[in-house]
Amino acid sequence: MRSAQPSSKLLRLVGLSAAALSFSVGLSATIAQTPPTPLPIKPDVPYVPTPQNVVDAMLKLANVKSNDVVYDLGSGDGRLVLTAVQQFGATGVGVEINPGLVQRSQASAAKLGIATRATFLQQDLFQTDFRNASVVTLYLLPKINVQLRPKLLSDLKPGSRVVSHAFGMGDWKPDRTILVNDGGRPRSIYYWVVPANVSGNWSGTMTTKAGQELPYTVQVNQAFQAVRATVKVGGQTISLPQVQLVGDRISLQQRQKFNNQDVNIQFNGKIVGNTLQGVAEIKTPTATEQYNLSAKRS
Ligand SMILES: C[S@@+](CC[C@H](N)C(=O)[O-])C[C@H]1O[C@@H](n2cnc3c(N)ncnc32)[C@H](O)[C@@H]1O
Repeated sequence: MRSAQPSSKLLRLVGLSAAALSFSVGLSATIAQTPPTPLPIKPDVPYVPTPQNVVDAMLKLANVKSNDVVYDLGSGDGRLVLTAVQQFGATGVGVEINPGLVQRSQASAAKLGIATRATFLQQDLFQTDFRNASVVTLYLLPKINVQLRPKLLSDLKPGSRVVSHAFGMGDWKPDRTILVNDGGRPRSIYYWVVPANVSGNWSGTMTTKAGQELPYTVQVNQAFQAVRATVKVGGQTISLPQVQLVGDRISLQQRQKFNNQDVNIQFNGKIVGNTLQGVAEIKTPTATEQYNLSAKRS
């Protein structure tokens, strides 16, 4: 996808564009005094740091904890990774194309005494293996976010969190958006939970507490975290237009009429690859029945 943009392979090899160069030149007096060294490849986004209060809000929104591995893709001077490690106790990895910024980040980590937990890699974020990340932070551009989206969805484990300063992710709608005041200027922060892939046809059995088994099939349509399903069971077809999917957790709560009776359906389950395990409760005015559900994707 990226090769179709103006930043062709050739351009990427040549070095900085004028816009990116002017951002980099402003970085510090030291950089301004030395002639700019061409970067290994052209940055997709110029360097503009996230204000510290926005950094704090991004990591708070992602609920970063000490067991998290936080990747900042395009890490600039390293502030997101340094804050995630120092203030939130996480492990962090910054990925940055500009060697001067990588050196600066590594020097800051060493000075803070956190270099073993805050790593900075000088490389292209599109070529980076970030499968062990549990949180990814971004301050890129809308187009770059959309180009990165398939890799985020395929490489991150379901339940991983993605937080982006200022820019969305095209038609992958955020699970949350907050505004942070930066000196009177509101800044948007977007938050997503990576959904499991649940689309396709599933079949399995519902088992009552008494051990009675009922076969069923489910057809699932998915657009990111928006899921709807059609269940066929016991000769009935049930439409489930609003299934909740958060990471690998799937749930629903639905009220509907069956044979003129109010029926309340509740379901909670977990997706592991091509298998689903869960518990359903079906309540009618006269009875409540619980089922253990298991299914496999065909
Ligand atoms: C807008 S700055 C954000 C810096 C930092 N994440 C922050 O929020 O303060 C974007 C950074 O991405 C880096 N960058 C641009 N294209 C890149 C690429 N393909 N791979 C890695 N880093 C890249 C730039 O050099 C720049 O430092």
